[in-house]
Amino acid sequence: MNQYRDFAFVYDKLMDDVDYEGWINYIEQIIKNENAQVKNILELACGTGNITIPLAKKNYDIAGIDISDEMLNVARSKGEEQGIDLVLLEQDISELDFDVTNLDCVLCACDGFNYITYDEDLMNVFSKTHELLKEEGIFIFDISSFYKLSTVLGDNMYGENREDISYMWQNYFDDEQNLVEMELTFFVADENGKYDKHEERHLQRAYTEEEILDMLEEVGFADVKVYGDFTFEQPEEDCERVFFVCRK
Ligand SMILES: C[S@@+](CC[C@H](N)C(=O)[O-])C[C@H]1O[C@@H](n2cnc3c(N)ncnc32)[C@H](O)[C@@H]1O
Repeated sequence: MNQYRDFAFVYDKLMDDVDYEGWINYIEQIIKNENAQVKNILELACGTGNITIPLAKKNYDIAGIDISDEMLNVARSKGEEQGIDLVLLEQDISELDFDVTNLDCVLCACDGFNYITYDEDLMNVFSKTHELLKEEGIFIFDISSFYKLSTVLGDNMYGENREDISYMWQNYFDDEQNLVEMELTFFVADENGKYDKHEERHLQRAYTEEEILDMLEEVGFADVKVYGDFTFEQPEEDCERVFFVCRK
């Protein structure tokens, strides 16, 4: 897999329809509803910092981890442009290794855990997160739902032709292993209007809510709340994003 290499440089452009402000408001509302005292946050799979930077601006003491050096470089440059010195670590979260303990909050937004395709690796992140949190600490994450990955993205093909970027995105869903393989081909125009072709393969695992809840319970998170699509309600059958809120 060559995930989030060249794609890092077009990620923000292709995500320009995502309401990150609304996402952050939702996370803050969860924290408020839970009456959790949060000053420091560890963000897993932070990518280009679309959540990290606004939270840093709101004075949370935040550190971000991602496996992609390229995504982290974009995050770092954006932080510098906005006068924010981000703490960013390049690391595979399935082997999470973080020195600071007694954390108030661990976050993982927008599919980070769908990229962890083996049960034992995901269990490892959950278990390490549990270890790193303070008593009553809060763990908030979301995944693309099983329905979204198997049925909506499934074996479908997507494409878009923009002025400066065009892409084709072909998916293959393996219903034995519950894995979606995504073949991304994108063409990026340079200043002379000449297009360079880039290709990446991404692999995401579709998890059921039950699979996730069993793993969380096994590492010690009890009474996990599960919400669908930025609401405070249980996910509907056609919900595309499932949020999990866990307290240590
Ligand atoms: C869809 S992006 C989300 C980025 C960011 N959280 C956001 O909301 O924009 C998924 C991110 O997961 C990261 N990722 C995938 N597998 C990872 C792993 N094993 N360890 C750390 N990061 C990983 C990718 O590099 C990418 O930045």
